[in-house]
Amino acid sequence: EHEPYSSKLQVPEALTFDDVLLRPKESRVEPDDADLSSHVSRSVELSVPILSAAMDTVTESGMAIAMARHGGLGVIHRNMNVDEMVEEIGRVKRADELVIPYEDVVTADPEMTVREIDDQMARQGVGGAPVVNTRGEVLGIISSTDIRPHLEVNEDDLVTEAMTDEVITVHEDVDPRDAFDLMYEHKIERVPVVDDENLLVGLVTMQGILQRREYKEAVRDEDGQLCCGVAVSPFERDRAEAADEADADILFIDTAHAHNRNVIEGAREISESVEADVVVGNVGTQEAAEELVEFADGIKVGIGPGSICTTRVVSGAGMPQITAVAQVADVASEHGVPVIADGGIRYSGDAIKAIAAGADAVMLGSYFAGTDEAPGRVVTMNGKKYKQYRGMGSVGAMKSGDADRYLKEEPEEEDDYVPEGVEAATPYKGTLKSELHQLAGGMQSGMGYVGAATVPKFKERSEFVRVSSAGQAESHAHDVVITDEAPNYSPNE
Ligand code: XMP
Repeated sequence: EHEPYSSKLQVPEALTFDDVLLRPKESRVEPDDADLSSHVSRSVELSVPILSAAMDTVTESGMAIAMARHGGLGVIHRNMNVDEMVEEIGRVKRADELVIPYEDVVTADPEMTVREIDDQMARQGVGGAPVVNTRGEVLGIISSTDIRPHLEVNEDDLVTEAMTDEVITVHEDVDPRDAFDLMYEHKIERVPVVDDENLLVGLVTMQGILQRREYKEAVRDEDGQLCCGVAVSPFERDRAEAADEADADILFIDTAHAHNRNVIEGAREISESVEADVVVGNVGTQEAAEELVEFADGIKVGIGPGSICTTRVVSGAGMPQITAVAQVADVASEHGVPVIADGGIRYSGDAIKAIAAGADAVMLGSYFAGTDEAPGRVVTMNGKKYKQYRGMGSVGAMKSGDADRYLKEEPEEEDDYVPEGVEAATPYKGTLKSELHQLAGGMQSGMGYVGAATVPKFKERSEFVRVSSAGQAESHAHDVVITDEAPNYSPNE
């Protein structure tokens, strides 16, 4: 007697975004009031739980700065050497600094003429400069308003004749925010920061303060600097330590398959030697999560869902993303470890479904690759604008970086790469700000339909219904010809 089915074929079903919808529920929550704040790792909380992918066509410092200013987090890719990585992290950390450090301050030398300093300030795009002697002592401050237009000042006069010599300074121990009151009170634009000997150590400007006030949702560390993440290999301790020293807030152990003995060992060692939070990924099963919760500060989920990813067809392995997230979250939530759903998100609806499945935050590549803030330039093909977007497992990306994300040796011959991703182009989309606005706004709508005002409440209250292929067709715009493109929907995406 044989069983009608081989036991090998008695397999569980796994679901992805299009297989499910959120069940609408009674609600007292207006979408605009839904609060998206959520943890991305044990110690970092985001205002909007959205990350830009660690890919060389998505996240470098420009993207990371914009993501953090708007409440999310950018994860800088690792197709660059360690010095370049440190420089990139530094750019994010310095972007919104209240005190411009000494080495970045434009200063005037007392021997300069008014014309010389005026030219220099114009060239460097600043409106004023502390006047310091060779010791670095602050003698005064000169600004464009001291120079023109009324002027008894002659262009050949020395700076010292035109400068304000009763200069208001703050001591380096003073909270830079107090400098604002001082500037307001004295109606001045900039205040030099000095040490005990009146030597210049930095500058606080009104412009810098106002700029920071513009970004109310910004995600900052305890020193007020923007937060950023960075991808590191599990096998490169020096890179991880350099990233930690450069004050990266989260290290993302970046592999295509983290449920691998060598990866887990490397990741664990790194997590023990750095101060930053360590997020480990990617995984997609409960068993993998069981191992990572022992030491990880966050777990990233996604085996093959990415838009440019061919892992599933090349290797035959993978896990549809809604099931993968739910499996990992079942384990991680018991240990208070945040879960990030990485890859395959095309619409805001997918992002909020990932949260309903148990994720605390979502990571996207293709959604952001077409924005101004992503690296690379805009190209025009057949009259339409595009930007390059490629998988980190594509031949091009592996050649300019590491194949170890896919746990492969660097081949000797170029033709010998076995890629797990493609090189592509994605429509040009304009600013990150408007893309993020659509994404977060759609997620808030989802929370409104479920009646949950916060992310934890939403995770608890949301339920799925299963959708047939007829239901999927019904979900999309159908039986019409779209005449005006919507900012958050393109049927061919
Ligand atoms: P989306 O769908 O947002 O996915 O474009 C971005 C995520 O895809 C992963 N990734 C890859 N996966 N081969 C893969 O199998 C690749 O070449 C590749 N490149 C990126 C990665 O997790 C990213 O965040």
